[in-house]
Amino acid sequence: MKSKAIRLERRGVEHGAFVAPDVRARTPWDDLAFIAECQRLWDEDRPIVLLDALGDAPRRFAAPIRASLALFERLRAGASFQDELWERVGPTKELRPAGASIDAGDTREIEKVFADGLSQRRAVARDLYAKLSWIAHDERDRSLRVRFSFGSEALLDWQGETRRAPWAERFAEAVFPECRAITDNGALLALIEQLIGTRPRLSERIVYNNAPGGGALFHHDDEEHQLGVVFSQLAGETAWFALPKHELAESVAAFARGVLKKRAGTPRKALRALDDTTDEALSKLLNATPRFTRHLVERGTFFHLRAGDSILLPSHGPDAVCWHAVYGLGRRASLAHSYGIFAARRGAANVKRRPAR
Ligand SMILES: [Fe+2]
Repeated sequence: MKSKAIRLERRGVEHGAFVAPDVRARTPWDDLAFIAECQRLWDEDRPIVLLDALGDAPRRFAAPIRASLALFERLRAGASFQDELWERVGPTKELRPAGASIDAGDTREIEKVFADGLSQRRAVARDLYAKLSWIAHDERDRSLRVRFSFGSEALLDWQGETRRAPWAERFAEAVFPECRAITDNGALLALIEQLIGTRPRLSERIVYNNAPGGGALFHHDDEEHQLGVVFSQLAGETAWFALPKHELAESVAAFARGVLKKRAGTPRKALRALDDTTDEALSKLLNATPRFTRHLVERGTFFHLRAGDSILLPSHGPDAVCWHAVYGLGRRASLAHSYGIFAARRGAANVKRRPAR
């Protein structure tokens, strides 16, 4: 079947229509050549697109998926996240409400809902949270996301501590039962285990509701102890650009003009320039320059995810990480779950972090 061209428009910028490459129709989990190819891609910080990775899970979890999509529509229309969240959790002996807050300093944040994890009615994991935000400051992007974590965001508690991580995961599953479409997928977990060399835990969960005309700008998710990300499309579709940071830097250097030429005119300079998230000229090139977008398509870094597909984004260090950008497609906002990949036992992964170049 010939793929159709996909029109890319994000935050008011029309990038053109592009065809995603033909990839195999179905992930051949047990094919040794396929696994070896995945390992090569992973080690080179390249994205791994796993078509139909979720099998029949989007059908099995059709009811909670529909409910999640409807929840996001109500939230977009101004419903109380706290009320909606506890309504979805229902009666439970595992979690209890612990308030809610709104961060006036972050215009993207809508509401943060706290919970305590309980064991025999005693709070054993405090300050778990679910944070609802817009993904962009730009009002043309109506995409929403909910992040599950715990403790102080400013102090990066989630990086320093592992004890409460399983509780944040339980909280995520209580609110979004379709988490199990990913976490019960033995073949997917086995592949991730193979790639990182140890049993994974999937934490720092984010549920995305990417709206048409919206989506994430180019970024990376390299964080201490986080070995990568697994993003799974449960309903609707998204388009992706994903490539190793040093290759993105090569492309930036080739396109840098004017003021940007000084800062990012060589691949080496561009590699450093990418670390500055406040560089407006660079952001314009990366995210709002159709010529550059076309170049990235020609470079083979363009992918299309439909319901049931997953993409793995490796992260081996600040300069050895898969950068990526997302476009919401279709007529309605979609549903996807994005989980950080960590070693279940810290320090057990055989993937060493690579220092900055
Ligand atoms: Fe990301």
